[in-house]
Amino acid sequence: LDNGLARTPQMGWNDWNTFFCNVNESLIRQTADVMVSSGMAAAGYTYVNIDDCWSTKSRNANGDLVPDPQKFPSGMKALADYVHAKGLKLGIYSSAGTTTCAGYPASLGYERRDAALWASWGIDYLKYDNCGDHQGRSGQQRYTAMRDALAATGRPILYSLCNWGQESVWTWGMPVGNSWRTTGDIAANWNSIMGILDQQVGLEAYSGPGGWNDPDMLEVGVGALTATEGRAHFSLWSLLNAPLIAGNDIRSMSAETRSILTNTEVIAVNQDWGGRQGHKISDNGNLEIWRKPMSDGSVAVVLLNRGTSTSTVSTTASALGLASVSSYSVRDLWAHTTSSSSGTISASVPGHGAAMYIVTGGGIVPTPTVAIKGVASNRC
Ligand code: GLA
Repeated sequence: LDNGLARTPQMGWNDWNTFFCNVNESLIRQTADVMVSSGMAAAGYTYVNIDDCWSTKSRNANGDLVPDPQKFPSGMKALADYVHAKGLKLGIYSSAGTTTCAGYPASLGYERRDAALWASWGIDYLKYDNCGDHQGRSGQQRYTAMRDALAATGRPILYSLCNWGQESVWTWGMPVGNSWRTTGDIAANWNSIMGILDQQVGLEAYSGPGGWNDPDMLEVGVGALTATEGRAHFSLWSLLNAPLIAGNDIRSMSAETRSILTNTEVIAVNQDWGGRQGHKISDNGNLEIWRKPMSDGSVAVVLLNRGTSTSTVSTTASALGLASVSSYSVRDLWAHTTSSSSGTISASVPGHGAAMYIVTGGGIVPTPTVAIKGVASNRC
């Protein structure tokens, strides 16, 4: 969506993956505080996003949504002011149907009214879900109506579509939203993350600056997901140009979880200005190679081991699309070390784990230009 936002994938936090319906203003304020004090804000995380269950069960006499006075006693304007004073931005949630997924009033038929209300509060981000009755209208119609309502407010509001990949949203998402969910909901376990990963294959043609495929929010540091699994998840989501929306309780996160979420070398792959999404180049049983061409002519690569025991995972500079030279520089984005290679890129990768490198040297061999669908063709 050409609204000036999300020129690189948006970064932030959302309460749903840990707190579900237990959202309130002290959680949001404390999270904003910790976004800054933990170094997450300095690493690029900007949006503090409220998910479902923030409103009362019905609209007021004017027809407006009302923040639940028990959960948000100070109101949303005061909360937005607090978050903005931290240098951060505030997100809200609704659905392109008659109710949200948890049964609260939603915005179908109230697009202009709700968008104007959010803008008056100082809201910066809308996650727009797909629950409730659709009154016979297609997703494309319902999501476009809210796009137009947000634009009419005159306030820059990042627009995150959450219709779970229905109606092949990636084929029409670019002119409608800043990101679009490509799948059903993620859960904090390896099988869920791998299942979502598999559904991203082929979607790389549809994303770019202003509009991103969204494989759902991060589960790093949530539930029983291990640090090894968390590093793999974060590596892959970064390479996929996914919105990086942390879903853990950052107020109580371990130093290890914090170091994963604030790995600025991995984040730099996600935030590369050219915005070319990474993609799978090969798989061999449980072992997969994913690559992303970087704007400076280097290539980011993830060596993934989906199995349960340690395995050697290997590829070559040539397979990554780099021209032949005698020596390549190989930067390990997790160990933060640099080595050289004559062409083989290889690592011993633990089960449910990944290694991630940037390989430099030779430059990317030019491939015939392929127009990115739905995107103006004047991009690199
Ligand atoms: C849907 C969305 C989730 C979350 C819940 C809230 O399931 O996909 O991300 O927003 O609704 O009820």
